[in-house]
Order: sequence, then structure tokens, then C-alpha cells
Amino acid sequence: MVKFAASELVAGLEENLFSILEKQAARLDQSTLPLIDLSSGSPRQPTPPAVIASLQAAAAQPENHEYPSFWGKPALRRAIADFYQRHYGVTLDPETEVALFQGAHIGVTGFPRALLNPGQVLISTDPCYPLYRSAARQAGADFYGIPLEAHNEFLPDFSRVPDEIAARAGLLLLNYPHNPTGALATPALFADALAFARQHHIPLINDFAYATLGCESGEQPVSLLAQPDGKEWGVEIYTLSKSAVMAGWRVGFAVGNASLIAAFKKLHTHSYSTVFGAVQDAAITALSLPAEQFASLAERYHQRRRLVLARLAAMHWPVRTRQGTFFLWLTAPPGFTGKQFAALLMEACHLLVAPGHGFGAAGENYIRISLTVGTEQLLQALDRIEELNLLPSRTSS
Ligand SMILES: Cc1ncc(COP(=O)(O)O)c(C=O)c1O
Repeated sequence: MVKFAASELVAGLEENLFSILEKQAARLDQSTLPLIDLSSGSPRQPTPPAVIASLQAAAAQPENHEYPSFWGKPALRRAIADFYQRHYGVTLDPETEVALFQGAHIGVTGFPRALLNPGQVLISTDPCYPLYRSAARQAGADFYGIPLEAHNEFLPDFSRVPDEIAARAGLLLLNYPHNPTGALATPALFADALAFARQHHIPLINDFAYATLGCESGEQPVSLLAQPDGKEWGVEIYTLSKSAVMAGWRVGFAVGNASLIAAFKKLHTHSYSTVFGAVQDAAITALSLPAEQFASLAERYHQRRRLVLARLAAMHWPVRTRQGTFFLWLTAPPGFTGKQFAALLMEACHLLVAPGHGFGAAGENYIRISLTVGTEQLLQALDRIEELNLLPSRTSS
């Protein structure tokens, strides 16, 4: 085989964190102790039956066998606008303020490419969802992550952005509820972010992938678009992957400022494929599910979070209790970096967790575990960790 070099762009991309973890897991000898995967961001619940039935019926429709339109079916764009009106009180024009694509992955990598020029900076957070760093690079731009700290509830302090970075800022990309820290936005956070966007005349995007996954039962996370001026300066990226348990179906959309949506749509016609028509019909069904059903899909993670937090408290593991998404962001025990602790959990306990440094330098002393694995497996995982006896007990200290 003739071996060709990848382009400089591809050679310069960091290896995807989750493909590294997948390779590690594949090398493990599981004959004595089966692996428990606590790293996955897949919701691991069945998709609601009504959505599946809708796809089954729509798959037989001849019009869905043709190439779908880049813009998405008018009925789906209307369903998206109705969904935002019902859930967030936001009015959208389905023609100009909605873009449809195959999952938030396309949105979070596509918008930076559609909006940034070489030399500009994509400002996000450190830690952050790792794709944001490569999204900047794919756009020929630089990346700057505002360091997030526990004492600030992992919310960014925009006054910490150096002047030189702010002068080159081209886009502010946030993600609340936040992966990996579980932090939840407040209206004040978005007000600060919008003030920063206005000051530097840059757009603001909120990746709302965990839109239905607050910390408590019935809690509805804050939407950027529902804030005063949110739609004027921003776009929100939404996905059905987590909220409607449709990770494999690949449906995401962006809503907000029409000029930002138009730039993305133009790139879309050149770079990406479109969502299968039958999946679009099923997405309409998903978006019209009652709010209680979204809440009950989230409830499974809330129950597990309560269970895990109680066990960690009993182990004297200091953990922030107010965390959204379906992850928990945990500090590594004393004497370990997150990377060392993740390696120990893999070797000694056959537990796969995401080491915090994969999300950015500020994640160095953390690991991220996922609440998507079954409750019984979660409890087994906690038993295995407890047996390591790494945390000082209160009575002995
Ligand atoms: C913060 C964040 N954004 C985007 C995505 C990608 O979601 P999608 O399945 O819609 O591509 C994920 C998936 O884990 C995520 O955690």
C-alpha cells in the first residue's frame, strides 16, 4: 500500500478523546472482570415508541426516498418553531431562523467554519466538549478556553479573557448545561455573555445539547434564546440525541439570528448531507411529545444521580451536588491526577471513565462519569471504587 500523509489540518487535530477510550477498552482482558463503561454520552434508553412508529410509517412513503431538501421539510421547521414557542416562549420564523442538520456535532463544528476567519479566536470554556477545540482549528481559527473553577460554579468570568484574545474574538461558544462539569446557566450568566458579545461585536452560540437535563426533577434549564436580546446576538443548537433519546437518529437544529443561520445554511449546501425524510417525520413526532414525557425520560438520570451522590457522600468523596446533564464531574482522590486515577480505575476495577484533561487543561484533576449505564452496573462500579479504599475516612482523619 502506498502510504499518503494526511493534510496538515488533519495531522494537527487532536485524537478524538472517545476513540482513545474505545481503543483502551478493546485492549482490556475482561475474562475475570467485565468492563463497566462509565464514559459514554449515549443515553442508553429506548427511543419513545411513538417516534419509532412514526419512522416505520414514514419509511414506506415514496416521497421520503428522494433526496431531502437542505432546509428540512416545512412541517418540521414549523414543529421546531412551535416547540420553542411552547417550551421557551420564543417566537421563530421557520423560514429564516431555523436550520436543520444531522446532530449537534454538525452544528458545533459547522457554525465556527461558517463564521470565523483565519486569525480570529473561538472563545469557549476550559474544560469544554473537546470538539470545540477542533472546530476552531477546522475553521483556521485559534481557540481560547476561559478557565472554569468550582468556586465560580464552573461559570465563565468574561473579565478574565485577555485583551489580545478579546481583540481577535470571532465567536463565543458556550454549552449550558455544561459538559463535562454539569454546571447550569443562570439568566445572569447569559446576560454577561451577551454583554461580552455586544462589546466585541461577536455572535454567541449556546450548545443546548442537554436542554432537558437539569439537576433536579422538573427543572428546566435556561435557554439563551429566551433571554432579552438572545435571538438578536445568538443562536442555540439543539439536538434530539439526549432529550428524546434519539442519539443514533442524527437530528439536530439551530435556531436564532437569521444572518448566522443563513451563513450556516450556505455552508451546509456545500459540506454536509441532509436528514432522511422519514427521520424528519419522526422528529416532528418527537418534538410534539408532551413536556411530561421529556421530564420522565430525564427522571431516570435524576434517580441515578441521587443514588450515586448518596454513595459518594458515604465514601466522604467531596462532590458538588448541583450538577445537570447525565454526567458527574468528580475530583480525583488526593495524590492522583484525573489521568492517573482513570488509569487505575481501568486497570484495577475495569471501569472506563473519561479523564478530565481530555476536556482541557483545567480538567486535569477531574474525571467524568456517566449516569447512562444501568443502575445495577452503577452500583457495582461504586462497590469496585470503594474497595480501592482511596478516600480518607472521616473517623480516621
Ligand atoms: C456538549 C455536546 N454537544 C454536542 C454533542 C453532539 O450531539 P449530537 O448527538 O446531536 O451530534 C454532544 C454529544 O455528546 C455533547 O455532549
